[in-house]
Amino acid sequence: MRSYSLIAPAKINLYLEIIGDRPDGYHELAMILQSIDLADQIEVRSLSTDNIRVHCHHPQVPTDKSNLAYRAAELMATQFPDAFSNYGGVEITIKKQIPVAAGLAGGSTNAAAVLVGIDLLWHLGLTQSELEELGATLGSDVPFCIAGGTAIATGRGEQLAPLPNLAPIHLVLAKYRSLEVSTPWAYKTYRQQFGSTYIRDSDNLAARASAVHSGAIVKAILNQDAAEISQKLHNDLERVVLPAYPQVLQLRELFATQPGVLGTMMSGSGPTVFAIAQSLQLAEAIKLNVRQAIPDEDLELFVTRTTTHGIQIVPI
Ligand code: C5P
Repeated sequence: MRSYSLIAPAKINLYLEIIGDRPDGYHELAMILQSIDLADQIEVRSLSTDNIRVHCHHPQVPTDKSNLAYRAAELMATQFPDAFSNYGGVEITIKKQIPVAAGLAGGSTNAAAVLVGIDLLWHLGLTQSELEELGATLGSDVPFCIAGGTAIATGRGEQLAPLPNLAPIHLVLAKYRSLEVSTPWAYKTYRQQFGSTYIRDSDNLAARASAVHSGAIVKAILNQDAAEISQKLHNDLERVVLPAYPQVLQLRELFATQPGVLGTMMSGSGPTVFAIAQSLQLAEAIKLNVRQAIPDEDLELFVTRTTTHGIQIVPI
């Protein structure tokens, strides 16, 4: 095959706790990551020339080295130089559905799809954990995006412990198109404001990270209890993003008052806010109500649901 088409789902954070700082400037996290149906479609194609090309119709998506998908292809070329010279360059086409700079791992899931696609194109036969290890060098969320589903993520976010598949939970997502929150800014501000509460002792850090495994939200996930999951949603980064971005706070408050909403939270470093809905019908009604309350065309609203997979190959 000279080309593959892949589905690259977005993720939301059902839980994000910042438990410590790290000497490398990153933060020790305890998270629960969840794949959702909202996805990009990625095509990877072999080129007869030896270069890497990225195409994307979306004006906010760069096509140069600043695109994580480009860097994923570059990483594969340097890791597997023989395959690169055998099979030639790679053309990557991204059909964007996932909002950009949204806290939904859009760039990370595109990069994960490129790793999986090139592994297939070049017949490398890499294992999931080898792909995840490569992914971790590109970004903290890339490893999760490969297999997706529901998982506990600790360390930088790259140490994964899969949880059993959840039956679909209906969601409404809201994001202002023109609003972007810088992830480094969010973590830096959190560290400045709340760094004094961090765990600095490595034994306690490990204990805290493993405590999430037996925490209330994991129990709720194991019980497939959407109402209980919704009650236990948590994101430490809301503490810095909500006060700085009144529009995000407004969405969060609006969702919380809608009939049929079981729970609401910001995803990642924002600015996307999601609501867990009791049913698909109620999710559609919530979307309509929010649209009526905020007729601003800059506001994007999506009805979607949780899914049990990460990168998938589209059968031809
Ligand atoms: O790993 P990734 O490139 O996706 O992270 C983006 C930014 O988010 C990092 O540059 C860092 O500022 C922040 N970050 C962090 N701790 C983590 C993950 C991300 O401080 N565990």
